[in-house]
Amino acid sequence: MRKKKHSYSMIWAIFSILIVFGIIKYASPYAFMILLGKDHTMPTPSTLMLWYMILGVLGALVYVSTSDLKWANFLSFMLPGEDDRTKKLLQKIIVLALPLLLGWFVYSGTVPGTASPVELRIQHPTLLQKYENMENPFAHVSEELKEKYTEEGKHLYQQNCRPCHGSKADGNGPFANSFRLRPINFTDPGTIGTVVESFVFWRIMEGGPGLPDGSTPWDSAMPSWEDTLTDEQVWKIIMGEYATAGVVPRQREEAE
Ligand code: HEC
Repeated sequence: MRKKKHSYSMIWAIFSILIVFGIIKYASPYAFMILLGKDHTMPTPSTLMLWYMILGVLGALVYVSTSDLKWANFLSFMLPGEDDRTKKLLQKIIVLALPLLLGWFVYSGTVPGTASPVELRIQHPTLLQKYENMENPFAHVSEELKEKYTEEGKHLYQQNCRPCHGSKADGNGPFANSFRLRPINFTDPGTIGTVVESFVFWRIMEGGPGLPDGSTPWDSAMPSWEDTLTDEQVWKIIMGEYATAGVVPRQREEAE
């Protein structure tokens, strides 16, 4: 009698699913870090991870069921012949591994995590020295001119910032809901009302890319405007922004 060829399609299926898992979980964060030029890894979101894994398992099942023979080979692990000792051993391993794996998933899903809570993100980091002594060049012009520049600033604000921060500066622009880290609501007295104008100048000029590490974990969608707007336009926007929001900037403490 011709010796039956061994088929290990179940092992291959499990092996390829594990490889897919390894790539998404451990390799892709580094690949994206290099591709996007970031200085931190870019982990795959867990919901995406789940979907990729479901697709991986489905793909493997489709492959092993493309013909009756393949399907029979695949299932032969469940009921190996009396003489097939390797398969019997593998069968035991699989039967043991499945509940263990399931148990591990449930355990790791319910065990209290050590991940930092979201609130730890620093919204107002220390102002860079470069901006510390900067002053609004329009701070000491006549009231008339101030009003004119504020109006210009309001206009520029609506042109550039409204999509995210909203026409009323309340952080409710048409794009606002698409960001996990929402655009700031400037009417909230805890935001631009608590910082000096040069802080706001820095944030507009350098945007999300200019934030230090403590203000991650998520990348901010706030664009950097230094290549789009002139310094003067930004100072005007700042005046218009405070006026639209109805708050005033923090004043510097005068040295005695
Ligand atoms: C693509 C959407 C988007 C646009 C357009 C945008 N912003 Fe932002 N902005 C954000 C997000 C998101 C944040 C919150 C995260 C952060 O602080 O970087 C933010 C934060 C800020 C902050 C920080 C406020 C604080 O209290 O820390 C300032 C100031 C600001 N934006 C001003 C502006 C101005 C002025 C414009 C227009 C020239 C503008 N933004 C355009 C998305 C945007």
